[in-house]
Amino acid sequence: MKKKFTLIATAAMGLESVVANEVKALGYEDAKVENGKVIYETDELGIARSNLWLRTADRVKLLIGEFDARTYDELFEQTKALAWEKYIPEEGEFPVIGKSHKSTLYSVPDCQSIVKKAIVERLKQKHGVARWLKETGALHRVEVALLKDKVTLTLDTSGSGLHKRGYRVGQGEAPIKETLAAALVKLTNWTPDKPFYDIFCGSGTIPIEAALIGQNIAPGFNREFAFENWDFIPSSIHERALEEAEDLANYDQPLDISGTDISHKMIEIAKENAMEAGLGDLVKWKQMQATDFYTKATGGYIVSNPPYGERIGDRKEVEAMYHNLGQTLQKFPSWSVYILTANEDFEKLYGKNASKKRKLFNGFIRTDYYQYFGMR
Ligand SMILES: C[S@@+](CC[C@H](N)C(=O)[O-])C[C@H]1O[C@@H](n2cnc3c(N)ncnc32)[C@H](O)[C@@H]1O
Repeated sequence: MKKKFTLIATAAMGLESVVANEVKALGYEDAKVENGKVIYETDELGIARSNLWLRTADRVKLLIGEFDARTYDELFEQTKALAWEKYIPEEGEFPVIGKSHKSTLYSVPDCQSIVKKAIVERLKQKHGVARWLKETGALHRVEVALLKDKVTLTLDTSGSGLHKRGYRVGQGEAPIKETLAAALVKLTNWTPDKPFYDIFCGSGTIPIEAALIGQNIAPGFNREFAFENWDFIPSSIHERALEEAEDLANYDQPLDISGTDISHKMIEIAKENAMEAGLGDLVKWKQMQATDFYTKATGGYIVSNPPYGERIGDRKEVEAMYHNLGQTLQKFPSWSVYILTANEDFEKLYGKNASKKRKLFNGFIRTDYYQYFGMR
């Protein structure tokens, strides 16, 4: 019989519904959305598929247990009562990280060390180890998260964050996370048959993510995950997920994706990153001033993360550039324009109110995603 697991795909604030749509598209229809996470049930294959395919989630965690605790005794006993030996072998390494919000047990270091002690005791008993656990084996990172006295214990199946696709060999000053770049593309109505431009492409993250989406290439194809080294997940599972990804990739899908930037250096970096992503010369890269944008094509999409002008001295220049951008892009009314910026005056400077706005976080920076729908 297939084993059942509860997974938690973590999401940046504001992206929960985007992650939930991705989870549902993988076939896990029962996905439940909470603040910063999407919770759903899968089998073992679901762990591999989630890591391989989720473009906009930060990590995929495996739920081990949930309970209420207001004292360290309660935390210890209930942690110890969970069947950790089913997941962590005798040699397994299991560092414990933690967070606590609005809870009686607010000291994160204390919660971490109580959880660690409880798991050590449980594993020693169940694996029959008299002295200490060596922890020389595969990494099983445990997280203890407390929210309003509810404790959630998870194992991190991903390893490094899912934004690490393995293609970023170079970057500029302010690269956008790959997960956010993918979300910006997913939040548009772009389809792979339409032209796509990022006119502030920097290291190329947004066009690269668009190309991966356009050809249905799994974003985790070129990297490793923590679960691959776990005993309770057969190695054939990851292989099956990789085979499925290979079958589903549509390398024949023609794409018209371009990335342009004012900086020659960034264009070189973007080219290298696209090569590393296995895209060859699928994306067209060109050094260009954004306000020189010109096209004969209709119905295309511009998705960009321009400079925000937050540094002293930059603001005036960036604001003038936003104004000129509005003047330029209004000449292409059939194009849809999507701009992520922290500048609250963007619409005024650009000269037009957005069709729709969405609050998003670029790291810790609060931004808005200004969406201008093209005329049909
Ligand atoms: C926030 S960064 C974009 C980062 C990019 N999304 C990435 O992941 O690397 C803004 C980019 O806009 C470029 N830039 C600034 N002013 C520009 C202009 N007037 N025209 C075109 N590009 C410009 C900068 O060189 C920089 O690479």
